[in-house]
Amino acid sequence: MTRLTESELLEGGAALRLTWQGGETARFHAIWLRDNALDPETRSPSNGQRLITLQEIPSDTRIAEARLVEGDLRLRFEPEDKAVVFPAAWLRRHRYDGGARAEVGRVAAGVETWDGAFDMARATARFDAVTAGDQAGEQALRDWLGHVRRAGLAMLTDGPLESGALTEVAALFGFIRETNYGRWFEVRTEVDPINLAYTGLGLQAHTDNPYRDPTPTLQILYCLENSAEGGENQVVDGFRAAQRLRSEDPRGFDLLSGHCARFSYRGGGDVHLSARRPMIELSPDGELRAIRFNNRSAAPLLDVPYDDMPAYYAAYRRLGEIVDDPAMAVGFKLEPGACFIVDNTRVLHGRKGYAASGGSRWLQGCYADKDGLLSTLSVLEERLGEVAA
Ligand code: FE2
Repeated sequence: MTRLTESELLEGGAALRLTWQGGETARFHAIWLRDNALDPETRSPSNGQRLITLQEIPSDTRIAEARLVEGDLRLRFEPEDKAVVFPAAWLRRHRYDGGARAEVGRVAAGVETWDGAFDMARATARFDAVTAGDQAGEQALRDWLGHVRRAGLAMLTDGPLESGALTEVAALFGFIRETNYGRWFEVRTEVDPINLAYTGLGLQAHTDNPYRDPTPTLQILYCLENSAEGGENQVVDGFRAAQRLRSEDPRGFDLLSGHCARFSYRGGGDVHLSARRPMIELSPDGELRAIRFNNRSAAPLLDVPYDDMPAYYAAYRRLGEIVDDPAMAVGFKLEPGACFIVDNTRVLHGRKGYAASGGSRWLQGCYADKDGLLSTLSVLEERLGEVAA
């Protein structure tokens, strides 16, 4: 069990240093501790939400007294004369003193990037295994959703051969995000299509709908028929592609992440979507957040300084070459009843061209949101325990 062994006030009670059993130490600020107090006047016992605003906490808050009680921390804050207890384990989980990684282009904890050597079979489950609903089914679903969080990708096989079956996949973890393409959309050859996806043309690997803001964060593509020649699907890890660009051309990476691109889509008369976002999006501290890459909907660049435009184009070209590198791509042909889900903020998908005559190719696609998937995964992990990668 995690216990504290020592507490020491710093800077006149503006902060303190804690030591846990085993010798680990961390500092905390008084204002941080007061703001995150766990008592029922600060946090609702029923839903955990904070009941006060920061303005209700005196700006000159300091720790007047710190005592260890059975290994946990008991504090008294002045000038409120407020006493609260923090469990030692909670403090350890929430320490923020040091250890922050600031490498630009890194991925979040628990995320793994991959290239063409990725073993798709590892991220594949049977439809009936994840939909069983019993404990084994919930474990299989947890593992399957875990692949989406870690690799941005997973596949199901042997699902129903019914139009709309993809909605059952979205319902495993959340809700469909409806768009102007409908609750779901048909991907098969159309006469006079509103989108090039609805033809037999090959498509360079891309993220979907970068012209939306926010973009749909998940896409499911479900196969109902696939006897046409060609039409294999391909996926590429955009995070790995961005990291490769950065290692080859750091300035190019900085240009693609430091300036907004423009994306737009005009379809069917009453739809005109546009967004101004970078192709490589970083958090303010340099973590990879999203990739937007789609040659079909890239609009004229208006936000790159004149002097940087040639180098920006060179970096954009290089990123496209990396995306097109066969060593980066995982290819597969979907069987009827199989589907794959991609994290559309990260994993690019494409397909080889296919013959519009002879055989048939019918996929259905829909969008959903990653926050719901991560929420379901988190709940399953709380209930069943986490699983090793
Ligand atoms: Fe697409």
